[in-house]
Amino acid sequence: MSETQDTRPPELTKRIAQSVQRAPLFPQEDRERLRAVASNLILHIHPPKVAKKTLKFSYTFGLGGLLILLFSVMVVTGVMLLFVYTPSPEAAYESMTALQTEITFGNLIRNLHHWSGNLMVVVGVLHLLRVFFTGGFTPPREFNWIMGVSLLLLIIAANFTGYLLPWDQLAYWAITVGTSLLSYIPLVGDALTRLLLGGPEVSAATLTNFYGLHIAIIPLSIFAVVSFHIWRVRKDSLTVPRKLEEEPETRVERVTTMPHLVNIEFVFALVMLALLLTWSAFVNAPLEAAANPAHSPNPAKAAWYFMGFQELLLHFHPVFGAIVIPGLGLVGLMVLPYLDRDLEIAGVWFQSVSGRILTAFNALAGIGLTFAFVVVDEYWLDFPGWLPFLPSTISNGWVPTAALLLLLMLYVELLKSMQFKKTEIYLAIFTFLFFSFVTLTLIGIFFRGEGMALIIPWS
Ligand code: HEM
Ligand code: HEM
Repeated sequence: MSETQDTRPPELTKRIAQSVQRAPLFPQEDRERLRAVASNLILHIHPPKVAKKTLKFSYTFGLGGLLILLFSVMVVTGVMLLFVYTPSPEAAYESMTALQTEITFGNLIRNLHHWSGNLMVVVGVLHLLRVFFTGGFTPPREFNWIMGVSLLLLIIAANFTGYLLPWDQLAYWAITVGTSLLSYIPLVGDALTRLLLGGPEVSAATLTNFYGLHIAIIPLSIFAVVSFHIWRVRKDSLTVPRKLEEEPETRVERVTTMPHLVNIEFVFALVMLALLLTWSAFVNAPLEAAANPAHSPNPAKAAWYFMGFQELLLHFHPVFGAIVIPGLGLVGLMVLPYLDRDLEIAGVWFQSVSGRILTAFNALAGIGLTFAFVVVDEYWLDFPGWLPFLPSTISNGWVPTAALLLLLMLYVELLKSMQFKKTEIYLAIFTFLFFSFVTLTLIGIFFRGEGMALIIPWS
């Protein structure tokens, strides 16, 4: 057989010989291409460069990133739970006991889903506080703040709908109490409650409704809004103090996202996952006896994130406790970034030294005065008794709400007379109301016993 002639150009033959000789597993060009692909993926959610100041952990505390991580955990564990869970009153509770006793790692997955979901509420609120106290809602980020508030509502809705799914006593009665709050909405309340429950009370139809909302509609909505939220954060980049932003480019120290930010995120995610796994391995999600519509526990409490509202109901007419006051709070949160657009507060924790003092003072005042109000209202204040000739909507609704608003306005006047800036006054009022609401929630969870009477939990 004659030898085949090598007709290839000598240059090509040389290159083939060289590459065979080197035989690299990942040639340099491939490695660069891979790195480019990875960084491009990352650069979909991050800008290529970030201000060095915003990398400091104590600026964001990684809370937004932690919310993304927790949401991912919810989706992964949620899909795993779907393999076991059956959404019917007969089978739902059995799915829970099967997860606890029969299915390998079933309990761990359920615990992870339960604790991560509840943690999302806490972390969502902490992220909101971080953004508020660093002035992260100032222009151009006003709309993204509103998207954030919507995300918090969606997180609460996801937890609330998930709460029913185990179909135990806790689930049944917490949802009964929670949905009863809705019925106080004037005109449409009853119709809305019926629509959500699929009938007059919590039943198999409610479970079907909540299941659909829980596993599809709410997670998809969260995904859509989070995508928008992150895209805006990427476009606007994180807030840095205006002083820095206005200085020439060289003075705002910027570093590349890869590896500076991505490395921090990676380590943080691993640490948080390890903590979550450890907690879920040792602490079980609560599960009581199977739901029994004929036997209501005493006290019948709402889910913990609604206890502040349930507490309000003990002090105000239901329309005010469940609708007017929370509604005013929500509207206040939504319009907050449009009230004062002073860019000086952007990127600086608590605005200034006097802002810090004001925040600490109002936090303490919010806690102390709310405790005092609850005790005084329990044992002494009695507007309906003092004004028996008025309907309770007025004596227990309009009158106390107007009295509180008046006190708040007097406080604002006092702050103005003390020469505080407008932004500092917003800071003070927000802090006061926030800590007041947290105190109401804690009182509802820990200080209410049988018949919702005030108790001392440790006695
Ligand atoms: C699922 C829920 C949420 C996710 C995944 C999320 C994610 C993020 C991330 C990753 C960031 C950038 C880094 C950081 O601040 O940690 C961010 C910033 C921001 N978030 Fe959220 N967030 C959520 C909920 C909220 C809520 C409840 C609010 C407020 C009501 C909010 C308002 C904002 C604003 C205004 C910024 C820009 C802040 C700045 O420029 O300093 N987000 N978010
Ligand atoms: C932000 C998103 C989510 C939150 C906050 C959330 C929250 C919850 C909560 C608090 C429970 C009750 C857990 C318990 O005590 O047993 C639950 C149950 C459940 N969730 Fe989710 N969830 C989310 C997303 C998802 C997704 C995406 C799926 C599936 C695609 C899912 C599927 C389930 C199933 C099947 C149950 C019933 C089993 C069980 O209770 O362990 N969840 N969810």
